[in-house]
Amino acid sequence: AFEVRIASTGEVFPIPADKSVVEVLARHGIEIPTSCEQGICGTCITGVLSGVIDHRDFVLSDAEKARHDQFTPCCSRAACRMIELDL
Ligand code: FES
Repeated sequence: AFEVRIASTGEVFPIPADKSVVEVLARHGIEIPTSCEQGICGTCITGVLSGVIDHRDFVLSDAEKARHDQFTPCCSRAACRMIELDL
């Protein structure tokens, strides 16, 4: 499990192993648009301000993934304790 921090509000939400970032945020009224929910379409791409991402999508290039400044919250996860999102 890891935590997600919403930069604009400072809210922090734990993401359990069996839930996606999109699912958890939606439960708290933060709607990220999605389409495929499988890391294919890129609809959900969200900016990342800090943290290391465990990229699980097929959309971003290797170079983009290496910057850890955006990710696909429908399927990708954190490779650290907390990531901060540009939301
Ligand atoms: Fe398609 Fe996330 S919804 S990549």
